[in-house]
Amino acid sequence: MATYREIAELIVEEKACVALTGAGISAESGIATFRDKGGLWEKYDPVVYASIDAFRSDPSKYWLIRGDFIRNYDEYAPNAGHLALAALEELGVLKHVITQNIDGLHRKAGNRNVIELHGSLREIHCLKCRRTYLAPKVPDGTPPYCDCGGVLKPNTVLFGEQLPPQALEKAYRETANCRLMLLVGTSAVVQPAASLPYLAKRSGAAVVEVNPEKAFDAADYVIAEKAASALPEIVAQVQQLI
Ligand code: OAD
Repeated sequence: MATYREIAELIVEEKACVALTGAGISAESGIATFRDKGGLWEKYDPVVYASIDAFRSDPSKYWLIRGDFIRNYDEYAPNAGHLALAALEELGVLKHVITQNIDGLHRKAGNRNVIELHGSLREIHCLKCRRTYLAPKVPDGTPPYCDCGGVLKPNTVLFGEQLPPQALEKAYRETANCRLMLLVGTSAVVQPAASLPYLAKRSGAAVVEVNPEKAFDAADYVIAEKAASALPEIVAQVQQLI
């Protein structure tokens, strides 16, 4: 296991860091992960409940379980892990956060350069008239409808959907240009996000994994701690070095 000091030294030396984050960083904000024990996909088959084909044929399935994994955009606050990544951006050493999360917590924490690979809860749109609603409050358990009568779908990626092409392109570019990737709270199995740490390594960057259960087999350094405790420690060390 690497020390916080070692990681901070690397960050300060390289300066061109990106972070790739997943559900684990938001666990301390009260949002369940997907593949941990008792995680969402142990209870529900994502193909039945969270695929675009299932949504189009019967949106009530998705909306039925939605409250089990996430509620409304305004109901969550960033935790110490998100705030630490915002501090690293402010200190000039973290260039981008690439996230698989849809909770918007990196932006709420203050990061400006955020690439949301799987979209965001901030917006929802009508499948019929395409009207977009911002930070909508939707009830649990039943599909919400647009004023025109069409069913509403969050601007988030469901299984079987393409990722937003510009976000994906930018994620590839920033990853290929980084010198260090912080891989935080992700099982790193869902493509195409899962290919990014490998791309970082092929491009000559080191990968530092922060995850209590090491998930990425090719990490150069591992901090086997929760993001909300590990990332602030790294920031404290970086502040001492700068
Ligand atoms: P997963 O649930 O697959 O993985 C969460 C990871 O976070 C695991 O490796 C945990 O060990 C780790 N973890 C748990 N608590 C943590 C903590 N406090 N600090 C740090 N790490 C912690 O979530 P993702 O990898 O984000 O996609 O899943 C990727 C995608 O699969 C999601 O974006 C979602 C899902 O299906 C879509 O819905 C399209």
